[in-house]
Amino acid sequence: MSKASVVLGCFYGDEGKGRTTDYLAQFADVSVRATGGNNAGHTIMVNGVKFAMRLIPSGILSNKTIAVIGNGVVLNPEVLIGEIEMLKSHDIDVDRFLRISDKAHIIFPYHCNLDVMLENKRAHKIGTTKNGIGPTYCDKYERSGFRVEDMYKDSFEENLRHQVEVKNELLAANGEPTCDADEIVATYKKYAEILKPYVCDTVTLLHKYLKEDKFMVVEGAQATLLDIDFGSYPFVTSSNPTIGGILTGTGLSARDIGDVYGVIKAYSSRVGEGPYVTELKNEIGDRIRDLGHEYGTVTKRPRRCGWLDLVTLKYAIDLNGVNYINLNHLDTIGNFDTFKACVAYDVDGVETTDFSTNEQFLAAAKPVYKEFEGNFGDVSKCKTFDELPEAAKTYIRFIEEYTGTMVKLIGTGADRENMIVR
Ligand code: IMO
Ligand code: MG
Repeated sequence: MSKASVVLGCFYGDEGKGRTTDYLAQFADVSVRATGGNNAGHTIMVNGVKFAMRLIPSGILSNKTIAVIGNGVVLNPEVLIGEIEMLKSHDIDVDRFLRISDKAHIIFPYHCNLDVMLENKRAHKIGTTKNGIGPTYCDKYERSGFRVEDMYKDSFEENLRHQVEVKNELLAANGEPTCDADEIVATYKKYAEILKPYVCDTVTLLHKYLKEDKFMVVEGAQATLLDIDFGSYPFVTSSNPTIGGILTGTGLSARDIGDVYGVIKAYSSRVGEGPYVTELKNEIGDRIRDLGHEYGTVTKRPRRCGWLDLVTLKYAIDLNGVNYINLNHLDTIGNFDTFKACVAYDVDGVETTDFSTNEQFLAAAKPVYKEFEGNFGDVSKCKTFDELPEAAKTYIRFIEEYTGTMVKLIGTGADRENMIVR
């Protein structure tokens, strides 16, 4: 029986998880999404073509990997159908490879309206992607949500009309745009028909695949510091993008998990509000943003940028059981003459390497940096670790020593080929 490899973000998202999954998918029979929804944006370059994947596991791009949307995902059918059509236009055999969990929850237009309403009302903005993610998870846990399977029940229309009424009352009371029940019912019945061929019990399916010894990769979305429990609450998303969410979002057991790849960039970034110890609100941060093209795949927002934070990374490694690091954007950091990484926090004059998401702790924490030599030159052509310039090797070795974790995959450029595997 095989085990599933898991790909997880170690920071605030956008670490390049899609690339790791896409790389592993070359060997994978199955690729799975477990959590989140179209708040994720995974950019993958294949033969010079840029794919911005939001819901379907990027493993599907190999055109030989089964792509499973797990039960933990919240699914916007309009976005999903758009993605299916986009992939088909690139000759990806979606009909053959896509499977959607009957238990994934559906995002409706009222969820998006509520997302906007709640964000506007917040004293301290989170900076959500306004895709209705939070309100959909709220409905799931409050037990008024719709699973994919509910769309095929006789009671669907009646229940949906009731929910629209309930949500419209709330929206209207707050002066927000309401939803047209007739339109939603008609549109979602149409979506249900389009998606029907892909829907199945993915829990049973995934266990069957493991017993058949198929190589499975679970593609995390969002990241450790955006986790509803372990992230910098309340500046987080509404799901568990950490290892626990991988299990509940797929139905895999702890025993089924093999390697856990923690994805990081050679620097760091965050989009949306919340604490960020190594943020550089200066021309260096601007330069990282420009060099790394750090603008949101989903919302196009400029990302906040800063140096790599190894204190946070250790927390993410412990929390998720990461045994391999995938470091991306080595090429980007190599543009600097010198650059830094945070090796400790100075909290009110006391140095510590212990991380905490406690708000006061993070507000007080000042980064203690170690400086590294840059000027790597063109690393995109390096095919092995040995071919890398000494300065790049020094940086990577330092990360390994600090974390006690091997840097197994090294991203050296934007294209699929620009990846060193050790
Ligand atoms: P990927 O998978 C970066 C952030 C939002 C916001 C907070 C809550 O591409 O790494 P939400 O819409 O989820 O309620 O927003 O979480 N956020 C992300 N930031 N990458 C992502 O996904 C994100 N998904 C959510 O910016 O701060
Ligand atoms: Mg993203």
